[in-house]
Amino acid sequence: MTILGGTSVEQLTLDEIEYQRSLTPGTENVIHFNHAGSSLPTQGVLDTQLDYLTYEAAIGGYEASGQTQSTTNAVYDSIAELIGASRHEISRAEHATVAWNAAFWSLPMASGQRIVTADAEYGANAVAFLRAQERYGVTIEIVRSGSDGSVDLDAMEATLSGDVAVVALTHVPTNGGLINPAAEVGKMTTAAGVPYLLDACQSAGQIALDVTELGCDFLTATGRKFLRGPRGTGFLYVSENRLSGLVPDQPDHHGAPWVAADRYALRDDARRFEHWEFNHAAWHGLGAAVDHATLLGVDRIEATVQQRALELRDALHEHGFVTFDVGEHKCGIVTTVCPGKDPVEVKSALAEQSIHVSVTTPDSTWWDALRRDLSEMLRLSVHYITTRDEIDLAVDALVRIRDGA
Ligand SMILES: Cc1ncc(COP(=O)(O)O)c(C=O)c1O
Repeated sequence: MTILGGTSVEQLTLDEIEYQRSLTPGTENVIHFNHAGSSLPTQGVLDTQLDYLTYEAAIGGYEASGQTQSTTNAVYDSIAELIGASRHEISRAEHATVAWNAAFWSLPMASGQRIVTADAEYGANAVAFLRAQERYGVTIEIVRSGSDGSVDLDAMEATLSGDVAVVALTHVPTNGGLINPAAEVGKMTTAAGVPYLLDACQSAGQIALDVTELGCDFLTATGRKFLRGPRGTGFLYVSENRLSGLVPDQPDHHGAPWVAADRYALRDDARRFEHWEFNHAAWHGLGAAVDHATLLGVDRIEATVQQRALELRDALHEHGFVTFDVGEHKCGIVTTVCPGKDPVEVKSALAEQSIHVSVTTPDSTWWDALRRDLSEMLRLSVHYITTRDEIDLAVDALVRIRDGA
């Protein structure tokens, strides 16, 4: 049992975890601590894609998409259900950055306005802010973290008076255990009437999301991480309240049908942000992954992930490793270092034992890295299919590498 937002939620049982592992072919080959990079898909997600590709090869791509329209549309419903939205508020995207940029660059900005963000904002988003600074003359205001490492809510509230073009927040940063208080920020942006763009790339699939509770106008996510979907998939949520005034920066004749020789008309739903072509097999695979998560219950996934991450941090601490994760309630991303060893070499040494971790570098989160004086770190990310045995194996391997044994 885990307490989430004041409510107790049952974790997945050991039998359920074993069953989920049996549905995941990769668990037979590797000890995967890279779910925050790209997770292991279920056989069902894999089969959905293979079946689609086989069908496409058999009859032709356009013909296959024509015959599978209802499945393609159902993926929007699946995503909408996952985040408490409606179908018309969901737009397909190739990955999170595409979704995020589609939303960001549709927002009107002018010289003198501010982009309000936080310390742990993701690199791609920060680059867009810098570009917007060059293009529009806006300024970037970074709300600093409070003592627990999450965005300081009083400082956030104080900054929302005046001319704010957008509040952009990363819910779960790439480089540590932090879960930012996204819903609290949402209450403030709603009260202030300011557009709120939430990067849920690392939270979708590991944390239960409800756009009404979050109070966000935009939410962006990727398929391949905690949702366990295919690479090259993602989505954008746009609240219907914001949609009508928004013009995509780069519309095409799918999102904005060319209705007369001199005129286009934007679609009236969030799909105005889409382009016509996409990988149908991957999109269907994403639908299967989302349905899988919904069926299991994302709140139970969240409870299980947080428990496994706690066990991993405890095991690391017990063996003398330091972790760099912040926030009162921490997520499934765990960061550490192997003293005296280059993280990239440690990653390779672990990979030789089929233990997969990643290395997080300061340039993904410069503001946070500079503030906390972080350099390269090992990132071990757990999921609900991670076992206690895998944690022990990974920590033992790290101890041997550290001690040169
Ligand atoms: C917090 C966060 N936001 C955005 C992204 C970008 O996601 P994508 O590579 O799917 O565009 C990442 C990728 O790691 C991320 O960690």
